[in-house]
Amino acid sequence: EEEKTLAMIKPDGLFSNHTDAIKKVILDSGFHIFEEMITQLNKDGASSFYAEHSSKSFFSSLIKYMTSGPVLVMVLEKENAIADWRNLIGPTDARKAKSTHPHSIRAMCGQDLEKNCVHGSDSLQSAPREISFFFGGTLSGTEATMH
Ligand code: CMP
Repeated sequence: EEEKTLAMIKPDGLFSNHTDAIKKVILDSGFHIFEEMITQLNKDGASSFYAEHSSKSFFSSLIKYMTSGPVLVMVLEKENAIADWRNLIGPTDARKAKSTHPHSIRAMCGQDLEKNCVHGSDSLQSAPREISFFFGGTLSGTEATMH
């Protein structure tokens, strides 16, 4: 069944020029890029996007990282898009991904447990919420810089 998921290239992925390589993997894997935007999260936006992690010890570091530069957000469309994108990006810890999932996107462009270069919605519930966070028309907590 056709699904949409939210994919994001995080600030480290954009800084290190991995965008073209990641987009090639996306298209070669049969995803359609339904819409995309470069934007920059501010502190409120990042805190809201990652609200489920607000009590974690790494939260303030995560917010600093995610507001450190622009991100590229994409709505990817394909059959089984949510699970397939999560499989393609690999485990959260990019350092571990390099040994256990060497062909994953995080192995290719991530650095460690925090700077893991890409994001993917994790469920049928989170995907529409995350898509409307960025593409719902009322962008609060982000500043669109390019289309
Ligand atoms: P992601 O799983 O996409 O969303 C939550 C993010 O928090 C995760 O990617 C990492 O960037 C970061 N993260 C998760 N766990 C840790 C951790 N233990 N230490 C630091 N950052 C983390």
